[in-house]
Amino acid sequence: MKVHAVILAAGQGTRMKSALPKVLHRVGGTPMLGHVLAAARAAEVGACHVVLGHGAEQVREWLGGMGEGIDTVVQAQQLGTAHAVQQALPQVPDSAVVLVLYGDVPLVSAETLRKLVAAAKDGMAVLTAEVPDPAGYGRMVRDAKGRISGIVEDKDATPQQRAITEINTGLMAAQARRLKRWLSHVKNNNAKGEFYLTDAVALAVKDGIEVQSVAAAGIDEVEGVNDRVQLAQVERRYQRAQVQRLQRDGLHLADPARFDLRGSLSFGRDVFIDVGCVLEGKVALGDNVSIGPYCVLRDVKLDAGTRVDAHSVLDSAEAGRDCRIGPFARLRPGAQLADQVHIGNFVEIKKSTLGEGTKANHLAYIGDATVGARVNIGAGVITCNYDGVNKHATIIGDDAFIGTDSQLVAPLIVGRGAYIAAGSTIAKDAPEDALTVCRAREQKSFPGWKKPAKKR
Ligand code: UD1
Ligand code: CA
Repeated sequence: MKVHAVILAAGQGTRMKSALPKVLHRVGGTPMLGHVLAAARAAEVGACHVVLGHGAEQVREWLGGMGEGIDTVVQAQQLGTAHAVQQALPQVPDSAVVLVLYGDVPLVSAETLRKLVAAAKDGMAVLTAEVPDPAGYGRMVRDAKGRISGIVEDKDATPQQRAITEINTGLMAAQARRLKRWLSHVKNNNAKGEFYLTDAVALAVKDGIEVQSVAAAGIDEVEGVNDRVQLAQVERRYQRAQVQRLQRDGLHLADPARFDLRGSLSFGRDVFIDVGCVLEGKVALGDNVSIGPYCVLRDVKLDAGTRVDAHSVLDSAEAGRDCRIGPFARLRPGAQLADQVHIGNFVEIKKSTLGEGTKANHLAYIGDATVGARVNIGAGVITCNYDGVNKHATIIGDDAFIGTDSQLVAPLIVGRGAYIAAGSTIAKDAPEDALTVCRAREQKSFPGWKKPAKKR
């Protein structure tokens, strides 16, 4: 038995007030639609058919990078949820089970989807929830024996039906062969003039099917996003659940409410993260790594014992063991630090490797450089890697000392053990183990010199 998911994502999302299609808005750094696809895949769904409408091009483009087993179908006019599902059904074999998902209900778990699919084996199953305030939702209507007899939409409900607190989450599963037939009989003579998927429930009952219900694990997992208030609520829930998982796995967070992970984090023992940090992409932190407050780490790998101090920004960078980074350091893509490297405040490193024990403690720019071990880079040192057209490399040998406020004009090689005097502009290779100076030769003083007067 193969499961085919039909993911509804054609709605405009007017209340988001955004140029971005609703299902591409992100939760935990991943578009909502991505969460739905991930849950479907984790629930062993064989194929996903995404029903697109508003912003179809943008969504399709994003889906292009999402791998196998996904196709799209366009619902040119949004005539209702039944009509939307129908657009995808020609791609679904009769023998399959159809799992209807919403692209704007991102937190549904794979476990719940598995239950729903299993419950549909005799025909149809609906994912329901008990809510304190059911306004706006379709209500589950049951007969005297408690069996489901149908779903009535909020706008079509009688006052008595409106009092029902068991709601339709919108997610359901049904045998494809039967669903195709039921949907062909759905009409749009209702308050909204739409073809309601929910009408298939009464049609199934009429066919003698005992429609099953599966209760959602909690209201959180079936919450839909219609505006940015709900998007932020869903984001918080997602972060809270994620943080609890990380804490149970041993992560020490100064305050779980002030931590955001928008991607994946792997970590060793006794890793500490202070308040206000944002981690994106793939982050890996070794044993005893400590991250100070208000840091941003995107696609970063730090080995054991490395410490990042407050307000540092690390992007596509790696550091070995026992490094000291920050406060106020910036590692840009391609920054690779060996063990025990120190990068201090207002130091920017781009596409450069720094050897073991090398230090750049204050105010420096190192770009397109290969720096050896135990090199000392003084305050204000700049690699002039760009001539206005091309980028050039700087190579600095082990144990070199680059005096403060020096400019290294690339392409350039500074030999091992070379000593560059402070304030030098070095445009020619500097030999090993020698002092190289390049500044105005004599220092002059001008007695009686008058300060410029302020212009009136
Ligand atoms: C739907 C259910 C309701 C349920 C509620 C849960 C129906 C008739 N009603 O109501 O019982 O309680 O969800 O949130 O199914 N969509 C399309 N094409 C369309 C219409 C909708 O792709 O032609 C998509 C929307 O983008 C959205 C989803 O389907 O993601 C639900 O549509 P919406 O109009 O929001 O349904 P509700 O009125 O909320
Ligand atoms: Ca809705």
